[in-house]
Amino acid sequence: MEVKLRQENENDFQSVFQLIEKAFEKEEYSDHKEHFLVERLRKSEAFISELSIVAEIESKIVGHILFTKLKVVNDSDSFESLALAPVSVLPEFQGKGIGSKLILYGHEVAKKLGYKSVILLGHQDYYPRFGYELCEKYNIKMPFDVPSENCMVISLIENGLKGVSGEVVYPKEFFE
Ligand SMILES: CC(C)(COP(=O)(O)OP(=O)(O)OC[C@H]1O[C@@H](n2cnc3c(N)ncnc32)[C@H](O)[C@@H]1OP(=O)(O)O)[C@@H](O)C(=O)NCCC(=O)NCCS
Repeated sequence: MEVKLRQENENDFQSVFQLIEKAFEKEEYSDHKEHFLVERLRKSEAFISELSIVAEIESKIVGHILFTKLKVVNDSDSFESLALAPVSVLPEFQGKGIGSKLILYGHEVAKKLGYKSVILLGHQDYYPRFGYELCEKYNIKMPFDVPSENCMVISLIENGLKGVSGEVVYPKEFFE
């Protein structure tokens, strides 16, 4: 089963919309609106076209991941980082390593573009395998009330989080 990873393009929007809806359909911790979030983020200033990535098997889109710009802000500084949200794999293709491939490939593209870190809200059992650590460790706080074990951050390069602390400022499109 060859999985091809590539940047999303306009012709993929409809497939990606349906894929995200299906991926989250049975997820307990979901508002089942992630496909609309992606539509909003594509039009936002936080969007980075190279970081909207699809996974294809025999020309069928089976997975998608999106990283958008965010900031970590404290009293004296503001740091650029990325939000990983959402990552989606079609239910019948889950558990085959496609989500992992999307995350790791996304990290590589992000690094090439000069980004130093990624922040996410996600399942505590899934993301640590890629090197994600608790935001708490870096004194990075989410702007809403969520369990600390679900707030995670990864440094993409050595010392990518040096001196970074503060509150996460998500693009406004996350709250519409
Ligand atoms: C989460 C998701 C992207 C992972 O993709 P995937 O291709 O199924 O994952 P992989 O095959 O790379 O990894 C499988 C591992 O992830 C674990 N896993 C998958 N989804 C998980 C979840 N929601 N929570 C915790 N662990 C999860 C599996 O148990 C498996 O663990 P193991 O390797 O220890 O057996 C996919 O399951 C999905 O689309 N889920 C619905 C949408 C969602 O919850 N997205 C994440 C929130 S943004």
